[in-house]
Amino acid sequence: MTVVAIGQALDRKDALPKVTGKAVYAAEHPVPDVVHAVTVQSTIAKGRIVSIDTRAAAQRPGVLTILTHANATKLADAADAGMIGEDRQPLQDDLVHYDGQHIAVVVADTLERALDAALLVKATYEAQRPDVELEETLDAGFAPEKFLTEDELQVRRGEITAGLTAGAVQIERIYSTPVEHHNPMEPHATIASWDGDELTLRETTQGLYNMRGIIAKAFGLPPQKVHVISPYVGGGFGCKGFVWPHTMLAAMAARETGRAVKLVLSRQQMFSVIGHRGRTVQMISLAAAKDGRLTALRHATATETSEVSTFMEPCGLASTMLYAVPNIAVTHKVARVNKGSPTPTRAPGEATGPFALESAMDELAYELGIDPIELRVRNHADVDPSNGKAFSSKHLLECYRRGAEAFGWSRRTPQPRSMRDGRHLIGFGMATATYPANRRSAAVDMTLFADGQLRVRCGTQDLGTGTYTIVAQVAADVMGVPIGQVHCEIGDSRFPNGGISGGSSTAASVGPAVEAAARTLRAKLAELAVHDPRAVAHGRAEDQLAFAEGRILLNERGGGASDLYTDILRRANRPSLEAHVSLDPTGTDAAKLHGAVSPGNDGKPEEPFSWHSFGAQFAEVRVDPDLGEVRVSRFVSVQDIGRVLNHKTARSQIQGGVVWGLGMALMEHTVFDRRNARIVTRNLADYLVPVNPDVPDIEVIFIDEPDPHFNALGARGIGEIGITGVAAALANAVYHATGKRVRDLPITPDLLI
Ligand code: MOS
Repeated sequence: MTVVAIGQALDRKDALPKVTGKAVYAAEHPVPDVVHAVTVQSTIAKGRIVSIDTRAAAQRPGVLTILTHANATKLADAADAGMIGEDRQPLQDDLVHYDGQHIAVVVADTLERALDAALLVKATYEAQRPDVELEETLDAGFAPEKFLTEDELQVRRGEITAGLTAGAVQIERIYSTPVEHHNPMEPHATIASWDGDELTLRETTQGLYNMRGIIAKAFGLPPQKVHVISPYVGGGFGCKGFVWPHTMLAAMAARETGRAVKLVLSRQQMFSVIGHRGRTVQMISLAAAKDGRLTALRHATATETSEVSTFMEPCGLASTMLYAVPNIAVTHKVARVNKGSPTPTRAPGEATGPFALESAMDELAYELGIDPIELRVRNHADVDPSNGKAFSSKHLLECYRRGAEAFGWSRRTPQPRSMRDGRHLIGFGMATATYPANRRSAAVDMTLFADGQLRVRCGTQDLGTGTYTIVAQVAADVMGVPIGQVHCEIGDSRFPNGGISGGSSTAASVGPAVEAAARTLRAKLAELAVHDPRAVAHGRAEDQLAFAEGRILLNERGGGASDLYTDILRRANRPSLEAHVSLDPTGTDAAKLHGAVSPGNDGKPEEPFSWHSFGAQFAEVRVDPDLGEVRVSRFVSVQDIGRVLNHKTARSQIQGGVVWGLGMALMEHTVFDRRNARIVTRNLADYLVPVNPDVPDIEVIFIDEPDPHFNALGARGIGEIGITGVAAALANAVYHATGKRVRDLPITPDLLI
């Protein structure tokens, strides 16, 4: 019996290169004669640049060029070419839309000289009063963001007013979440170099092809002339999904100087020019019968976007599908404020929205005197209430049950402040986790060489999530080769399009494409074998053959006679065998998988199921009643994400999500000065994130039931669901410990004393 790689808790393929420093990140690529770019940023948040004086800076030693709106390359609008952080290009006009906007770029032969010269660039402005506060600007609301349809944003089902009054118990509460920043360890960085009319970008990106398309459009090039290389990404979380202006500036500066230009954002700059999670204010109205059954749910979100974007937090999406409620109204209202653009931030909408919904469910449980888990069980949605479709696979009730058991929920005494340990107040809280299961098209090249090595190439990226590893696991199992012989090459736009790594879609999209490529390659190999008179497989049909340990075996003879792949290739005089597969999960491949389905509006088959992952989050907090300090002492996260491809990398994904949820609940908050919209907390001393002593052991439990409909692997994505529900579970635990309901994140000590 062969060793199965899928599902094992295997070490990362990229672990050794990472810990030995051999993994090359964007700014580390050894590009000869590279020069350095530093951007100058606006010091106002709204207005116009009257003049920029670059004379003193230009005199400094080593300065090669200084670009401003007065002399910058004209770039084409690229907002329709893919996912872009700003709907306008940098340095194209004199307008300032937010604090920290790039207004010039200085290029010099060393980083120090570029920094020095950048300090001497002097701008004068005609400043206007910026819009900072969502509440003050809401009336100027505009058409909501373009990636979601009107129907998803504004959902009405049943009779909301009648439903609200029909309940025996009603609550109406307002919750808010602040601006938060991603802060990956690796800052954004670009090395741009031109060779004639071909541009190479050494980047850190969640989407090679998205970047390629946008940059090509901006510079008027065919996409094939832009080459994006990003073998390792030091964390993404959404902020490396869209293309940001500094990449344009690096390419522009490289063209201007004729040199390879390196541009690395500082940690301070990471707070203003690469997106953030927008602020939200959310009103939840719930009504329920005495037995806890919800009669109505209204979720009204107000959130913000920038003057140069349309992206917003879609907080209400989970509210449309999480519970079986007959009467629903979900609305979003968006204001433009003078902040940098919001962008996807680990579970956009699904981290923020369920904070409000799952806090409100806890409040309702107290009103009704029903256990919070029981309340959720009574409102369990057996089918997706938003579209009436069956879930492809859903084990949420089991998540509640197993989580309660592992956590020891039965020890909870419901009364707030009723559990103590010495002078500390103890609180138990829980919440539901949910995230849509996304998948996209992906293409893969796979090559089996005559020496038995297997190479997989895909233009996808590993954000630190484990892509290298799970790709190798899938290829090894399906192709029947030891995982050590699989070489996974990703992070290069010369490889076939693997799609963007966003919305937790990479494993669920690239994984099945690798599976399909391996099956195709296996069939080609079998074809050779059955025509090889010296092969054991000679004259057999493919379904009589098995593939394992680099050999073709006959099914019925098990471990008996076999042919080495290497022998088959050698005798056929083939140096290698190749397969190229492109898989579109929403197209005909999906139709084959699901049987006949009627086509939707776009000509593609209508999705036969609702695709979602679920989970349950359980938190224990210890609160110091005198200091208001909250310590998270235990955390249990139970996840139903289909088949687990790798228990080690999957656990890390969930733990990382929980850690961020902990930061969201208790620490993270980007502060803007209300007078001038300037960012006050622009470093990791002022912007707090959890560090090791803040984080307890996080127990992760996987249901590990393959999703039979989603894809050939039965695996759904896992990057984002870990954060969902965490802030609510913690806020609910804090309420249980202290009797104080904090509805505005983060829950800082001053709010508890
Ligand atoms: Mo994720 S926030 O969709 O990169």
